[in-house]
Amino acid sequence: MIVESLAAAALYEAVCTREKMMDGKMNALKATGLAHAYGKGAARVDVLKNFDLELVPGAFEALMGPSGSGKSTFLHLAAGLITPAAGKIEIGGTEVTALSDGAAAKFRRRHVGVVFQSFNLLDALTVAENIVLPVKLDHGRPDRARLASLIAKLGLEGKEARRPPELSGGERQRVAIARALFAQPDVILADEPTGNLDAAASRSFCALLKELNGQDARSPSENTHAEKSAILLVTHDPVVAAAATKVHFLKEGRIAASCETEGDAEKVSAKYLEVYG
Ligand SMILES: Nc1ncnc2c1ncn2[C@@H]1O[C@H](COP(=O)(O)OP(=O)(O)O)[C@@H](O)[C@H]1O
Ligand SMILES: [Mg+2]
Repeated sequence: MIVESLAAAALYEAVCTREKMMDGKMNALKATGLAHAYGKGAARVDVLKNFDLELVPGAFEALMGPSGSGKSTFLHLAAGLITPAAGKIEIGGTEVTALSDGAAAKFRRRHVGVVFQSFNLLDALTVAENIVLPVKLDHGRPDRARLASLIAKLGLEGKEARRPPELSGGERQRVAIARALFAQPDVILADEPTGNLDAAASRSFCALLKELNGQDARSPSENTHAEKSAILLVTHDPVVAAAATKVHFLKEGRIAASCETEGDAEKVSAKYLEVYG
């Protein structure tokens, strides 16, 4: 009886969570009044102050700003790798900034996909092992069908048993994306992921992210949570930012301006110059 009512309560909770998400009432990511500083006393550098940002489930948005403006700091805070001096960040309704280090690591493996510029792949593991690593660390059993479908979608067929040093930059980057997507996170945080790529690879990366953002919906049977991952892409390339629907500009520690990109890199460049020029 108790077990039954607990199961009913869990089911009810899952349905409500999904409905809130579908209604757009719950955010994939919501940062409120965030502040962060490095160092102490005279060496103190205030990086973020009064930083607010909100992404709805399935959003694909870009974050731009000059070098040193705090973009990576924000991604590290959102991934729960560091703790803010003030304010909070919620991901899919969970306040990540209130979690202990251990709980944050666990939460990250399930709900946050991170793609760093250096890709952070483990050279000793194969492509397939790298992709499923976060789920393995979470003591989960990787879904082999999902692995195969991601490998196909990312054009990595035949490369499953290779190790990162045997891959090109573009291929390594696709492995890092597959790893970020594998656990169907609420949000994917990508920190200048095209920084090491040439223009052609960078263009195909943008097309791929757009496609994944539009098509990586969970199948109805799996769809008990969000419908697709929201993406926050940090870049200083206007062409890359234009792949997102909206771009935010970070200045003096906060989002100083935001605009729809309309897929237009020139519009993004013009706005960039207006904000920082
Ligand atoms: N671990 C750290 N310790 C001290 N200062 C740091 C640290 N990480 C970043 N900073 C400083 O914080 C500022 C913002 O850095 P960062 O978030 O990496 O900017 P961005 O990614 O926009 O280039 C810079 O002035 C940088 O030097
Ligand atoms: Mg950075």
